[in-house]
Amino acid sequence: MKEVITIDGPSGAGKSTLARLCAKRLGYKYLDTGALYRAVAWKVKQDNVDPDDEEALRKALADLRLTLNGDGISVNGADVTSLIRTAELGELSSRVSAKPAVRAFLFSIQREAGLKGKVVVEGRDTGTTIFPDAENKFFLDAGVEERAKRRYEELKLRDPGISVEKTIKDLQKRDLRDSTRESSPLKKTDDMIYIDTSKLSIEEVVEKIIGSLKK
Ligand code: DC
Repeated sequence: MKEVITIDGPSGAGKSTLARLCAKRLGYKYLDTGALYRAVAWKVKQDNVDPDDEEALRKALADLRLTLNGDGISVNGADVTSLIRTAELGELSSRVSAKPAVRAFLFSIQREAGLKGKVVVEGRDTGTTIFPDAENKFFLDAGVEERAKRRYEELKLRDPGISVEKTIKDLQKRDLRDSTRESSPLKKTDDMIYIDTSKLSIEEVVEKIIGSLKK
């Protein structure tokens, strides 16, 4: 698993930006696994499925076709790439991601995308469950206020009603759910390199990641 790099961590730690930049530097592909959970959440909302009803979720998943192309993602042929980046779908994706049926459904899509190699995979369980055998694993973190500030800067463009205070509360709720759920919780393991990105520039983190890769 030398050609799979995993980057896990909580929301707003900078995973997407850093995974994308590292992939570009290395000539690797980039897989944003959170986008898959957000796409499922988009469909759940669209079809008014109860996110706490696992049987209803299972039925919805049976008709779901997710297609990844580069940075884009489609649900049954409809491009949802720019529709899934809202605070509401962030929250709903965290709720549906706690359901084992959803995780099982997305497992093979992620494995398949990564098994071709030369890929940077980013999410919550990529180094623990999806690619436990990856040789280069990272855990990115930052203080909650710093993470909320970053998330707020992204969200305010789409959602003028959002505030930093609300973003902090939302992040704390998601952090708790994502790290305490039974099924593949967010977890740092001993084989992951821990990087606190709070006081580092993007370029400094890229250098740290690339410089730590096993040859
Ligand atoms: O990284 P993100 O904010 O786009 O992820 C949205 C949600 O998806 C996150 O709150 C939890 C879930 N998720 C997950 O459970 N496992 C992953 N590998 C990636 C995301």
